Amino acid sequence: MLSTTEQELEKKFQERIDKGESIEAKDWMPERYRKQLIRMMGQHAHSEVVGMLPEGNWITRAPSLRRKCVLLAKVQDEAGHGLYIYSGTETLGISREQMLDELLAGKAKYSSIFNYPTLSWADIGAIGWLVDGAAIVNQTVLAKGSYGPYARAMVRICKEENFHHKQGYEILATLMKGTPEQRAMAQDSINRWWWPALMMFGPSDKDSPNSAELLRWKVKRYSNDELRQRFIDRTVPQAENIGLTLPDPDLKWNEERQHYEFGTINWNEFYEVINGNGICNKDRLKARRKAHEEGAWVREAANAYARKKSGETIAA
Ligand SMILES: [Fe+2]
Ligand SMILES: [Fe+2]
Repeated sequence: MLSTTEQELEKKFQERIDKGESIEAKDWMPERYRKQLIRMMGQHAHSEVVGMLPEGNWITRAPSLRRKCVLLAKVQDEAGHGLYIYSGTETLGISREQMLDELLAGKAKYSSIFNYPTLSWADIGAIGWLVDGAAIVNQTVLAKGSYGPYARAMVRICKEENFHHKQGYEILATLMKGTPEQRAMAQDSINRWWWPALMMFGPSDKDSPNSAELLRWKVKRYSNDELRQRFIDRTVPQAENIGLTLPDPDLKWNEERQHYEFGTINWNEFYEVINGNGICNKDRLKARRKAHEEGAWVREAANAYARKKSGETIAA
């Protein structure tokens, strides 16, 4: 039961949200708002960092120096996104170490999409176009969310995501102008990535237990289904432009609704992947743990340097 003062505070909090004010780190907030944001932002930060793995895999095999530079910059951007969002989450009273421990122990979730393998160079195109494309749809809305530090991080991140989206589309457009083998490689990649990309928006709202509360607090501004529809509507014409076929026989324009209709998503696959049984779940965590262990000396050196510096300041 909430005490009267807490009820009063919650009422004021909701009024601020309804007026479109942004909530800052030191403002009063309901404990559940804090917890939900820690969960969402933590998952988001982990996704940025784990998301570096499938693409990082192709840096040494990029087909030209230009492609290598672009991919390197893109993967590096994702590390930066992780850093912003971890820092943003720390304003809610959890430490980065704690979040990383949860990830490495397999207790924290990250986006299901990164548990699929990158089998060909075209997959780098598909990830940029579809995965970063889906991220933009999600994050543009999060940039208008009620928690200030998260919303501001999203504004900056979205600018970079646009570059990621374009570089992916350009890879596919180039392949589609190439040899029959290159076109087949691009099409095969889209056949594998299309449905997992649609799953990135999460389960249908009727099966998403947190949705109503997050919408009321303006942490989320649109439902999962609305965002998925928005992504599909803007992506289908892009596929048609370069001659790619999306692997969904039920996909068709509905003139009356002014939206594309689409087939049924395989939610069993989605739940299998988020519960640890996707193709790459184990590899991804193994790679993160290895990177964490091998990077221990960097953290120790940085801490020793910081201590030395603060000692010098005190002595001075
Ligand atoms: Fe990102
Ligand atoms: Fe990205």
